[in-house]
Amino acid sequence: MGLNMVAAHAKWPEENDAIFGLAAKAKQAIDTYGKDNVIDSTLGALVDDDGNLICLDTVFNELKSLPNAQIAAYAQVAGQEDFLDAVQTACFKEYRPEAYIKAVATPGGTGAVRHAIWNYTNEGESILVCDWFWSPYVTISEEFGRKVTNFEFFNEKGEFNISSFKEKFEDLLKKQKRLVTVLNTPANNPTGYSLSDEEWDEVLNIAKENAKDPENKIILLVDVAYIDYAGVGSERRKFFSKFSNLPENIFVVIAYSMSKGYTMYGMRSGAAIGISSKEEIVNEFYYSCMHANRANWSNGTRGAMSVMTNIAKDPAKKKVYEEEVNKYKTMLRNRANAFVEGAKECGLDILPYRDGFFVSIPCDNAKEASAELIKENLFVVALKKGLRFAVCAVAEDKCRVAPAKIKKVLDNLK
Ligand SMILES: Cc1ncc(COP(=O)(O)O)c(C=O)c1O
Repeated sequence: MGLNMVAAHAKWPEENDAIFGLAAKAKQAIDTYGKDNVIDSTLGALVDDDGNLICLDTVFNELKSLPNAQIAAYAQVAGQEDFLDAVQTACFKEYRPEAYIKAVATPGGTGAVRHAIWNYTNEGESILVCDWFWSPYVTISEEFGRKVTNFEFFNEKGEFNISSFKEKFEDLLKKQKRLVTVLNTPANNPTGYSLSDEEWDEVLNIAKENAKDPENKIILLVDVAYIDYAGVGSERRKFFSKFSNLPENIFVVIAYSMSKGYTMYGMRSGAAIGISSKEEIVNEFYYSCMHANRANWSNGTRGAMSVMTNIAKDPAKKKVYEEEVNKYKTMLRNRANAFVEGAKECGLDILPYRDGFFVSIPCDNAKEASAELIKENLFVVALKKGLRFAVCAVAEDKCRVAPAKIKKVLDNLK
């Protein structure tokens, strides 16, 4: 037995991030074989056809035009007031719910997810997440002594599995009387699925039915990290208006991120946005998150907040920014369409893709498949239930041919 200096609750396996490790291998392959011969679909960031990270000009021109003091200064603990207005508009657009709403700035969507999990669960309780999920939900829960229960995301027909959702939701609520449910939609990571407006109605009907018991406290954490790349116009934001006039014991937290929509991944900015039909509940949320901000990272990135605020305030800048995002949204859709068509053509089974950065391929032996695909110079992330292909990082022509390569490897493993 080695010596442990770290306290028991902070002792974790000595693991490095698997995705970053795979990305480093892909880089090596590119150096050895040339970029035309390698498909690197590892990282969840927008990359152009030449493999360079896409950085929105409108965003970085704005950042670089800020006075140094505005980048250097501390922000307010809850975030600059004008940012807290701008972020709500950026998130809801024309679908702002009729409710009391308050936002708190966080370092990325991760900070908002962290606050929702820590501030709205008790020690030892479980949160509910679907079985295709972003792994930091588990990391964050583990860190705080919370557990994660999964519901099945899809039924055998490949549709949203509302009955699995209902079963797990009601089980946990019965036991805990308090439940944080995470829904990462639209443009789910890793599947690319977006709940339809009808599916949202079903989810909310289940929540409302269970809210009839006044002892129940229902918290919906909606992670919209990829919302700016969902749909064509703003139709994928329609569901926000369904959060109007909810029962008092249903509270919604939106985890909003500037990482993707503003390509500011490393600048760490986003917000937790609380929605309730009761003013007291959003005030409680605001002060709870403000305390958590102070205790964890003190305050957010001032320069990133200013970028969003300044673009929002200037109609000309806003127009150019939106055109730039839309250009990449179209690029992403073309790549995803190419992958989906390629999959159809060769008979590769994929999960239903609607929007966003990723497509997933269900399979039993994902680790083995990923290792075999590395030999073909195709780099995909292995998940528990399948493979994740990042269309955000791969040129359209490669997205077209990748499914056949994956199919061949999966067939050989059978
Ligand atoms: C599903 C999901 N949620 C949230 C985030 C939050 O990212 P950030 O903290 O950079 O905003 C990410 C980023 O990868 C994500 O994939």
